[in-house]
Amino acid sequence: MWKHSQQALALVGRSQRCLLLPSSVSTISSKHPRTFLSTPIPEVAQMDLSINSYADLYNFSIEKPDIFWKAVSGRLDWHQKFITTIQGDFTTGVNWFVGGKLNVSVNCVDRHAKNHPDRVAIIYEKDEPGHHEFITYGQLKELVVKYAHILRTVGNVKKGDRVAFYLPCGPTACAMALACSRIGAVHSIVFAGFSADALASRMNDAGATVVITTDIARRGGKTLKLKKIVDDALEHAPCVKTVLVDARDGDTSRVKLQHPRDHFLQDLMNTSTKNVNDVIEYVDSNDPLFILYTSGSTGKPKGLVHTTGGYLLYAMFTYKNVFDHRDGDIFGCVADIGWITGHSYVLYGPLANGGTTLAFESTPIYPNPGRYWEMVQRLQLTHLYCAPTAIRLLLRFGSEWVQKYDRSSLRVLGSVGEPINHEAWQWFHEVVGEKRCVVRDTWWQTETGGICLTPRPSGPTDPVLPAMPMRAFYGIKPVLMNSAKSEGQEEGALCIEKPWPGLAQSIWGDPARFKEVYFKEFAPYYFSGDGAIKNADGYWRITGRMDDVINVTGHRLGTAEVEDAMDEHEFTSETAVVGYPHEIKGEGIFAFVVLKEGGKDLDRQKMEKELKKLCKERIAGYAIPDYILFHDGLPKTRSGKIMRRILRKIAAGETSPEKLGDISTLADPSVVKSLVKARESLK
Ligand code: WTA
Repeated sequence: MWKHSQQALALVGRSQRCLLLPSSVSTISSKHPRTFLSTPIPEVAQMDLSINSYADLYNFSIEKPDIFWKAVSGRLDWHQKFITTIQGDFTTGVNWFVGGKLNVSVNCVDRHAKNHPDRVAIIYEKDEPGHHEFITYGQLKELVVKYAHILRTVGNVKKGDRVAFYLPCGPTACAMALACSRIGAVHSIVFAGFSADALASRMNDAGATVVITTDIARRGGKTLKLKKIVDDALEHAPCVKTVLVDARDGDTSRVKLQHPRDHFLQDLMNTSTKNVNDVIEYVDSNDPLFILYTSGSTGKPKGLVHTTGGYLLYAMFTYKNVFDHRDGDIFGCVADIGWITGHSYVLYGPLANGGTTLAFESTPIYPNPGRYWEMVQRLQLTHLYCAPTAIRLLLRFGSEWVQKYDRSSLRVLGSVGEPINHEAWQWFHEVVGEKRCVVRDTWWQTETGGICLTPRPSGPTDPVLPAMPMRAFYGIKPVLMNSAKSEGQEEGALCIEKPWPGLAQSIWGDPARFKEVYFKEFAPYYFSGDGAIKNADGYWRITGRMDDVINVTGHRLGTAEVEDAMDEHEFTSETAVVGYPHEIKGEGIFAFVVLKEGGKDLDRQKMEKELKKLCKERIAGYAIPDYILFHDGLPKTRSGKIMRRILRKIAAGETSPEKLGDISTLADPSVVKSLVKARESLK
């Protein structure tokens, strides 16, 4: 139905795009000012005639958030108007657009299908090189309505029920998420690289009754047996009663179904959608839209709950303004749908704006390091939004891979997920973007719902600084705090002072933990867990996590999760996991392991293999440590607390006495010396 056709590409609006090539070219110096207010917010600017600049708009959004967000909320279609824009604060809990009712799928699909049924909504870039499919808004609507019907009738899904996804990034995941929203169900998308254990614990925590998967997925040329992993997970997740299987390429011969639990979507599309009854559930603005699990410094992953009205508006508004969305754009966010970047900037942000979005199933280096650029050329992407880890990886393969392909369609480049280093930023800007494209380094989190720090909004003479480019987005008031909890210094803990619509509402099933994790340490502010620096001109740079969360290839991982997995081994007595700087991954994983008496004589290589396997089985492939160092003891304070600061230095190879700092408070300082020696032997 959605076969590759150049005609469809034309419907994206290529001709319009040519007329719209960069009006806002960023350069590293301020000699070339960017166009002022190239993306105005007319509904706000008109309200107050003293608004003449980005700075004025920003200040207005901070000083009068209720008026600002009320004005902007008109960009959504409301079934019932809201009465109160913002209710409550961080201490009490915040509700947005109280009294309002809306439906996300109507906002992301129906209204565009009505006006532009032939416009391409989703471009599915399959793993197989050179293969893509187009789904127009008209087709997407048809699909969403049918999927919603299947969820209701076959899955018995009702408003508020949770539906788990274990799917690759593609039209099925996008349309199913929208189908959930159509009937008021809550989706919980689990990245299809997580293990069966991780999937089971997430499904149990959410109490999912339905899971949607594929028989197999393909990623980087490899075949992944997703249905098999789901079957394994379901042995420990009795809450799930129905499994919907999307057979890849319609081939239903690869896996056996378990009746009556499992169904092929293809069969259901043929049989149960003959008489579709399109029921649209208009939900309260503060009803949950989805749950997304993310790692924290302690305990099991947290299921962040995002609500309907606030989240959707923030995803829509940040997408429009940060990426300067224009009619005819083809937005290429290469994140997987299993992460928040996929939720906000593959799915909800672009579609709420009626844009054309890319669902990318592959990897940056399959079949070769030219994958992104060949795709940019073939699909005429106007934007590319990716993680610094991919940029660093591609940079290593050389600029020839980029220069082989025509990138003249690109207008904006974006980076997300971890700090971008100078070299990567420069290469992105100069080689990929030919110094012509705007580079937006965007800071945000699963919790924040959308981008919070970004080069936009900024004024006409503001320079774009390499790798330190960020300003606060409208409505975001960042503050830096130090341990004495006083504000205003230039380096500290990054907090946000006031509520904004994109912030998650709670942790699923554990509102007390939500308060404890985010609003206690620097009350009454939201604490992000990151450290940051603000320079004299008001630019922000993120220095990294301040807690025991590490960032591996742009994926958040709690060191405690890795420790828990390794502690399960019968011969581990104690483990401590830290991150260390890694040229490509951003951070690598370094594990220190103390063995039990009985384990000391075991074959270390075998032991290492078993520990790595545990990490893969309990979490995911990216959680496997790069190094495992077996040792007799760990550096501890006299009260028995592991000194991670020292372990981080040792892992990074920073072992001179000056770098290690004061070790006199340790119960046994000699441990450090022998650990340093053991670390050296690992090289
Ligand atoms: C990190 C991803 C520096 C940060 C959207 C944050 C960044 C965590 C940036 C959230 C950036 C994200 N510069 N660090 N531009 N963007 N981070 O929840 O440590 O997967 O707390 O959301 O990634 O990761 P998450």
